[in-house]
Amino acid sequence: MKLANRVAALTPSSTLAITAKAKELKAEGHDVIGLGAGEPDFNTPDHIIEAAIKAMKEGHTKYTPSAGLPALKQAICKKLLNDQQLAYKPNEVIVGTGAKFVLYALFQVLLNKGDEVIIPTPYWVSYPEQVKLAEGIPVYVDGKEENNFKVTVEQLEAAITDKTVALIINSPSNPTGMLYSKEELQAIGELCVKHNIWIVSDEIYEKLVYFGATHASIAQVSEDVKAKTIIINGLSKSHSMTGWRIGYAAGPQEIIKSMTDLSSHSTSNPTSVAQYAAIAAYEGTQEPVETMRQAFEQRLDVIYNKLVSIPGISCIKPQGAFYLFPNAEKCAELTGYENVDDFAKALLEEALVAVVPGSGFGAPNNIRLSYATSLEQLEEAIKRIHKFVEDKM
Ligand SMILES: Cc1ncc(COP(=O)(O)O)c(C=O)c1O
Repeated sequence: MKLANRVAALTPSSTLAITAKAKELKAEGHDVIGLGAGEPDFNTPDHIIEAAIKAMKEGHTKYTPSAGLPALKQAICKKLLNDQQLAYKPNEVIVGTGAKFVLYALFQVLLNKGDEVIIPTPYWVSYPEQVKLAEGIPVYVDGKEENNFKVTVEQLEAAITDKTVALIINSPSNPTGMLYSKEELQAIGELCVKHNIWIVSDEIYEKLVYFGATHASIAQVSEDVKAKTIIINGLSKSHSMTGWRIGYAAGPQEIIKSMTDLSSHSTSNPTSVAQYAAIAAYEGTQEPVETMRQAFEQRLDVIYNKLVSIPGISCIKPQGAFYLFPNAEKCAELTGYENVDDFAKALLEEALVAVVPGSGFGAPNNIRLSYATSLEQLEEAIKRIHKFVEDKM
């Protein structure tokens, strides 16, 4: 079958592939523990669900403006101001069907054929594919493990060409859980202003930071940097609302206007009822957000030490998100596997623990373990990995 070249070049999501394989084994009756999840394991808080039911009963089941309900855009502006001291007007905000689509729309709006986008590695799996779908070229800059998986200004400067249009910053990061400090962001922001490069700041894990760490947005650095930044955020991770599909962008009005035009001819608008739920999420109590954060923090605290006690595993302690991203190169070697991909495959088939190989994130020596699952399951999973490794050594 002859299909468009743009889809032929797509790499399927490695996260989804491992989840599918784990499901297949489960369906065959195997007791698989899945550590591949990219979503919180809590239900959406009750008051948000109630708001959606109320909206439906009141008849808010029709099209909305393409950029989102005015009341939701107001609530997002209020959130940006109160939480991050960032002033945006409603016409500088667009709500879309999840941060993923908002990012897709943004690259469609920013890029022409051959434009380069700098993507620090390890990266979230969808960035390169979305850039390619917009006919852009991903340019990878190595976030070295010895620098906590973060890129430096010197590395970025060396990667900039006259084709560079944008840089993606994802802090806290999926998959590494690392956070850039305000000072680091200041230096990166100034570099982007100097070279007139857009900064795509994916802050979807903003609320999930641990052990006293604080999140900084690159847009907070200065007005000049804010003017070159498009913030991406949403409710999926903070309010456990992955299925509702609500994300947003905040940035220069002209960009937001073009993204709105694009949305008007693609999705029309994010689901009306989910938008009412999102208003309740931002305007109501934030207690459930903190309760979930604390649960993640406790899990991380318990399992981190157990994980690093496994022979051949080393891991930088994450400061945010809900992933551990250990280096398993030594472990693969000790257990007789040629590479970490093969090690991860054997872990699923023999120890019945599903982890995501780092190769899909541009870091082939690592594996990603999500701790968005119960502590009991996590402890059992780590126990199984430990036994698997010791038995094979
Ligand atoms: C780094 C990052 N950005 C964006 C998203 C997209 O989130 P959503 O489309 O659910 O809002 C995800 C989801 O996994 C993510 O990990």
